[in-house]
Amino acid sequence: MIEIEEVKARGLPHHVAIIMDGNGRWAEQRGLVRTAGHQAGTQAAERLIRFVGRQLGLKYLTLFAFSVENWNRPPAEVDFLMDLLERFIAEKLQEFIGEGVHLCVSGDMKGLPVRVQETIARAMGETAKNDRLNLNIALNYGSRQEILGACQMIARAVQLGELDLEMLDSDVFSKFLYTKDIPDPDLVIRTSGEMRLSNFLLWQAAYSELYFTDTLWPDFAPEELLDAIASYQERDRRFGAVAEGNVV
Ligand code: IPE
Ligand code: IPE
Ligand code: MG
Repeated sequence: MIEIEEVKARGLPHHVAIIMDGNGRWAEQRGLVRTAGHQAGTQAAERLIRFVGRQLGLKYLTLFAFSVENWNRPPAEVDFLMDLLERFIAEKLQEFIGEGVHLCVSGDMKGLPVRVQETIARAMGETAKNDRLNLNIALNYGSRQEILGACQMIARAVQLGELDLEMLDSDVFSKFLYTKDIPDPDLVIRTSGEMRLSNFLLWQAAYSELYFTDTLWPDFAPEELLDAIASYQERDRRFGAVAEGNVV
């Protein structure tokens, strides 16, 4: 197991994004209902946020909490998840304020229950000036929907003469995404053994390093984040070029 000081000394990624998967299977393995897995998953998220903010010192952490496709789950599970998310944000707000955590959300806010929208808006407002850790929760998030939404906004801006089509490049496009204020993730982690992106950050993860682990999300301990970052630190990120020293 790698020590935190060693990981820090090697240089941290700017942004780590995590697909928190496996809550249901965690509960099933224990003979519990799926919602018990979500409860335990929330505790794992809480533990990780504290570790990242207080000890590790990452600048950006994105947690995928609810996808646009997750509305297809049974209504009771969806309702439970919405309540859990709202309670989580409301209960953590004072801690976030005190510890310099800036909360932001990526996703279609308008599609959320009004009380969830209100709690998020309050938390975002009250933590807006914080900059120690930017905690981005992907909530009612779908990457294709995000990209389509950006295309619609761009088309409208061109129609209104506010944007010159010739000026549209990757940087300009990125400014129309939910993540406009956030750098692309350097590292994307998915728990629970699934090796897919499930409509998560398809544009932003173009050159992200990927890390998959069989650990189910409620069991994901801060030490495992260190392992994932250590693995990232050993990768050679070439961005399509050739590695240094290999020039012919
Ligand atoms: C991830 O755990 C949490 C959400 C998607 C909200 P799952 O609920 O997907 O757990 P599994 O994949 O069924 O085990
Ligand atoms: C992805 O997990 C979404 C979140 C972790 C919030 P899912 O469990 O919904 O993804 P699939 O259905 O296995 O692709
Ligand atoms: Mg799942």
